[in-house]
Amino acid sequence: MPVTEKKKVILSGIQPTGVFTLGNYLGAVKNWAGLQDEFQCAYMIADLHAITVRQEPAELRKRTLDAFALLLAAGIDPQKSLTFIQSHVDLHAKLSWVLSCFTQFGEMSRMTQFKDKSQKHPDNVNVGLFTYPVLMAADILLYQADFVPVGADQKQHLEVTRDIAARFNGIYGDVFTIPEPYIPKAGARVMSLQDPTKKMSKSDTNPNGYITILDTKEQIINKCKRAVTDSDREVVYREGKDGINNLLNIYSSITGKTIPECEREFEGKGYGEFKTAVGETVADELRPIRENFARLRADTAYLKECYTAGAQMAYRAGRRTVEKVYKKVGFLLP
Ligand code: TRP
Repeated sequence: MPVTEKKKVILSGIQPTGVFTLGNYLGAVKNWAGLQDEFQCAYMIADLHAITVRQEPAELRKRTLDAFALLLAAGIDPQKSLTFIQSHVDLHAKLSWVLSCFTQFGEMSRMTQFKDKSQKHPDNVNVGLFTYPVLMAADILLYQADFVPVGADQKQHLEVTRDIAARFNGIYGDVFTIPEPYIPKAGARVMSLQDPTKKMSKSDTNPNGYITILDTKEQIINKCKRAVTDSDREVVYREGKDGINNLLNIYSSITGKTIPECEREFEGKGYGEFKTAVGETVADELRPIRENFARLRADTAYLKECYTAGAQMAYRAGRRTVEKVYKKVGFLLP
């Protein structure tokens, strides 16, 4: 009888804190969709994480649904992958508490994101913001994830997840799979169109700095045309040409062409022509997603069906981990 190999588990999450940008799409969600056959994937909307920064309740609810619809619009198949909303699965909070007792104060104090965020919101340096990485560790360890696709800003949190897991395993035996970062084969780190030394972000005060997945073709082309570049005229990837490099990365990531191939394509052509081509390519790439999103987002009954089933499946997948952990630490089972 053939031995069927168990698929490795991949888990990732995204916070429902606003409209998604081209950066979120090319850097994360698009890759997630491509992993669904090779791996058992779990993708969640991290609403518990979102409240570490004050949120307007109605807005958070809306954005959570937006984010969920967007995962589906981007090709994540709830039949294949665990697709759910973090707060629907209470196991995350339970495991997070136990793990927090295996995490050192000093470890959390070193997290650069905590330092950044507490500087940005000095009036609300809450304990949740401080223990945020423990909750993230719980998300990952609950499902015994083998791999976690994360961007540079989350790498330190994954490192600390590994430390917590190894510490727990060191005391109680092999309870947790130690997760590894998953470095995608393709995918781009997309920078701001207005300041290409900074990551593209929806919190940019200048909306020309970012493209959202819901922008129209016209808006996208306009933003690309206005992208900050430099004063020479060659479309080549070179140090110091951050604006052009960024546009080349975007173009290459969508078309699948290598950077030298892209350079050759635009040899002898001006920036104007190049920028329009990038804009059109981005718009064509995002159009089906925008359309799928509009259709799915209008069908709240269907979305509810998906996230209800997703939460149940996630619960079934994570339950054993919490049971095991509770037993190991010595809780009397009810
Ligand atoms: N903290 C992540 C972010 O802000 C989101 C997240 C929550 C996550 N839980 C996770 C990512 C678990 C990977 C794995 O981007």
